[in-house]
Amino acid sequence: MSETLETLLDENRHFPPFDAFRSHAHLHDESIYATAAADPVSFWEKEALALDWIEKWHTGMEWDRPFAKWFVGGKLNACHNCVDRHADGPRADKIAIVWEGEPGEVRRITYRDLKAEVSKIANALKALGVGKGDRVSIYLPMVPELAMTMLACARIGAAHSVVFGGFSADSLAERTNDAQAKVIVTADGGYRRGNVVPLLKITEDALAIGCPSVDKILVLDRIGGYQILGHSERFVWWNDIVPNQSSECPCEPMDSEDLLYILYTSGSTGKPKGIVHTTGGYMTQTAATTKWVFDLNEGDVYWCTADCGWVTGHSYLVYGPLANGATVVMYEGAPDSPDKDRFWRIIERHRVTILYTAPTAIRAFMKWGTEYPDRCDLSSLRLLGSVGEPINPEAWIWYHETIGKSRCPIVDTWWQTETGAIMISPLPGITTTKPGSATHPLPGILAAIMNEDGKEVYAEFQNPGKSGEAPHARPPVGGILAIKHPWPAMTRGIYGDPDRYKKTYWTRFEEYYFPGDGAKVDEDGCFWLLGRVDDIMLVAGHNISTMEVESALVDHHAVAEAAVIGKTHDLKGQAISAFVILKQDHAGEDLVDELKAHVAGKIGALARPDDIFLCADLPKTRSGKIMRRLLRDVAEGRALGDTTTLADAAVVNALKVQYEDKEG
Ligand code: WT7
Repeated sequence: MSETLETLLDENRHFPPFDAFRSHAHLHDESIYATAAADPVSFWEKEALALDWIEKWHTGMEWDRPFAKWFVGGKLNACHNCVDRHADGPRADKIAIVWEGEPGEVRRITYRDLKAEVSKIANALKALGVGKGDRVSIYLPMVPELAMTMLACARIGAAHSVVFGGFSADSLAERTNDAQAKVIVTADGGYRRGNVVPLLKITEDALAIGCPSVDKILVLDRIGGYQILGHSERFVWWNDIVPNQSSECPCEPMDSEDLLYILYTSGSTGKPKGIVHTTGGYMTQTAATTKWVFDLNEGDVYWCTADCGWVTGHSYLVYGPLANGATVVMYEGAPDSPDKDRFWRIIERHRVTILYTAPTAIRAFMKWGTEYPDRCDLSSLRLLGSVGEPINPEAWIWYHETIGKSRCPIVDTWWQTETGAIMISPLPGITTTKPGSATHPLPGILAAIMNEDGKEVYAEFQNPGKSGEAPHARPPVGGILAIKHPWPAMTRGIYGDPDRYKKTYWTRFEEYYFPGDGAKVDEDGCFWLLGRVDDIMLVAGHNISTMEVESALVDHHAVAEAAVIGKTHDLKGQAISAFVILKQDHAGEDLVDELKAHVAGKIGALARPDDIFLCADLPKTRSGKIMRRLLRDVAEGRALGDTTTLADAAVVNALKVQYEDKEG
């Protein structure tokens, strides 16, 4: 057996903290966990003091389950905390953002310049009629103006809703309408793998679908459109309005609980959920966790590879690192453009010290081979992070050895759009890591494992019950993850839909937050996240609901019925697999490519099914519910699980034979 394989199979392989971190990391004393658990609110209140407050809060936390308020009565501005306090102090000439465009241009923006630029954009938004409390849709490529526009919104007290540039016109319209955005900020295009993504064209399509709340569209020239496209009242070119604004724009004093942003994420019942984040608690936890988990220091060059269209880009590219006055790297394009060494070239060029990326990317790099990282100088790296889905031990070890040269700690960070900030993660100065485990809930975060009946079966720092007995099973124990105590960055709800918020997250368990993930705890109290327990798929680290794709499929005129599952996939974690019944008059037609394109058109390219299987029937229970579990068995070539609740067991058997015929 090869050495690597042997170590992989050794469940107990563990990596104690490196000495350099053990003695120098921001957090290096284990007692912080117990201190924080004893009084989480006071613990987080102390952390909140790291921010600049215009007015201090009077109450640390108010809990009216499931609605939390943190730092009640406090006033602050997120943009001030990310920009002005650095620009107006000793970090004025420090680089805030180093940006690389996919075609190769590099821009270095100091905190001083960032303040001036953000202020101009903020004034331009005001000139377009945006005021405190309004919403702005941002549909931009990964250019500095994306981060700047987010900050400009925060500066004037408007909430942003960033829509990932890979989403379709339908998705942009749906999100814009749900948020009732007044302005859309977009660009004439963006670069992706050498191609141009026609963002302006897609925005026009969205407006044609109907976005009645939108007054103005602010258009950035990224691909030279300013020279060739027309001008109109409603569409305002960035060049015509932003550069001539004043670079002075005061930061709006915001209540700690004022809306900072809305970010849409997939829900298991179709329509995307507008996850709401407010100001004081969100800023406190993102700032603190960036510092602790990545052990951020003044000289670090920090690169989070996520797009600002996802929550990781919000919390760990913009708000968390900039609140700490860090230098962040931002990259516009694909990791294999122009060649498969692009990431490693960026690290080499900018002397990146901290890299935060996703398992799906790591698995792609593994497949491409070590020649690409090996031909670059990665010696500047000192810490590696992972987020988005469980990282398989094989990828962990590869990341550790090939990228980290066995000298960089890996932090596998578990969290969600809804949690706003990292919840479960190693601390590089304290934690002994294990490949594949996110290890422990962070200080101030109280997590538990529940059984199917909603009973708590494990929790750290559990006080004995009244009887004096600890009520828990001894680990190892598996079940469903729950969060026991409110945390500062937790979502304040689903925009405009408090009932759905309650139903989705607060009914599965009586008292605790339900994130929707399975988990187990091992003998050392390490948490292992085991993937979703609901109908959400994790495709390349992104949430896509089976329902969402099914709705897009049945929207096609030839489709009678569709069932969608996430099928295990080497690179993407899960790939979308659809079983489709065509309408009678289309039976026998080969519509597979057309249906794939239809889904991509409805939702965006990231939801395009990998395979579509046309069939005559779907396995259903007697009450008519499609049994996706059995479809997963079919797609993954397993023996069929329990079929006793099926209305007609013959259906799934026939399906299995037909599927294997096609695959074989
Ligand atoms: C879901 C949340 C957190 C930002 C990116 C995704 C899965 C995320 C991990 C991890 C195991 C993980 C969970 C979670 N997930 N990180 N380190 N280990 N699973 O945000 O789109 O809201 O997705 O991603 O299933 O519930 P999101």
